[in-house]
Amino acid sequence: MTQRLTIRRPDDWHVHLRDGAMLAAVAGFTARQFGRAIVMPNLTPPVTTAAAAARYRTRILAALDEGTAFTPLMTCYLTDRSDAADIAAGHADGVFTACKLYPAHATTNSAYGVTDILALTKVLETLQRIGMPLLIHGEVTDRSIDIFDREAVFVERVLTPLTREFPALKIVLEHITTAEAAAFVAEADHPIGATITPQHLMINRNAIFDGGLRPHAYCLPVLKREAHRLAVRRAAVSGSPRFFLGTDSAPHVVGAKESGCGCAGIFNAPFALEAYARVFDEEGALDRFEGFAAEHGARFYGLPLNEGIVTLERDPAVVPDRIGEGDTAVVPFLAGESTGWRFVG
Ligand code: NCD
Ligand code: ZN
Repeated sequence: MTQRLTIRRPDDWHVHLRDGAMLAAVAGFTARQFGRAIVMPNLTPPVTTAAAAARYRTRILAALDEGTAFTPLMTCYLTDRSDAADIAAGHADGVFTACKLYPAHATTNSAYGVTDILALTKVLETLQRIGMPLLIHGEVTDRSIDIFDREAVFVERVLTPLTREFPALKIVLEHITTAEAAAFVAEADHPIGATITPQHLMINRNAIFDGGLRPHAYCLPVLKREAHRLAVRRAAVSGSPRFFLGTDSAPHVVGAKESGCGCAGIFNAPFALEAYARVFDEEGALDRFEGFAAEHGARFYGLPLNEGIVTLERDPAVVPDRIGEGDTAVVPFLAGESTGWRFVG
């Protein structure tokens, strides 16, 4: 049995680093494991301009210990009023790596999101022309659609026509949770990829209701039934270059989760690689772990692979019940459990 695993330094293609005290509390966990990360723009207010993204990038770097080798890759939050010229200029200047599309009201801080995606013609044409990826939170927001069906319906009603209208638009379907999304991404005749989170690989929707309501297992897109988890797992370990690591680590202070109306989001950054390693190990696919974690995403984005390496060791250490205190106290994913691995560095 493999006791030590060394791979090329990986990247996290979807993370929420927040701002202010929470940023200071969490950024180090991501920078410790990953060379780069695609940083989500859903702050309040959201990051909608290149100038705001450049300032946010500076705050992220200031939150890290001096000398930390970590590159935050910034994203632009699309709204109905997004300015294609500012986006293109931000991309040309190396500020923006990608644009993020939140359907309005789909998730945390998405009230400014897009009400009609196909109406964003000018922006989408620009992204297609300059080869800038569009990252999509793929859920319809129609409240008459069952919450467990919103991703599959999005694939059919929005993603399918979008890929037809913009055949060369690079798309990343973020945090996929269903067999339908996995199949679409695997098979589409289109430049498309998908990120996959540890939680959608490790737990199904029963975890939200396990002996009582479990707010720390609540994220969006919501966990699905077991058959979907298995389909997403097969996609992750398949070796297909279209699937890559994106934690969707989304910290919320404990009180905002343990509430009458708890926030969506799972904080998995402190033990992210360990969690993914467990999945690949269980699937007998440790030989494909490096591709998923450190190669497929960079190639999709057209970026060089990282130079360094990281090592994990088998270890029965248990994830702590809580990380941080006061305004930044967060319950991590897998609290009280062991991943079976330890990140050595
Ligand atoms: C994210 C957050 O808290 O910002 N929450 C989540 O459940 N994933 C938003 C998001 O990515 O949908
Ligand atoms: Zn997210």
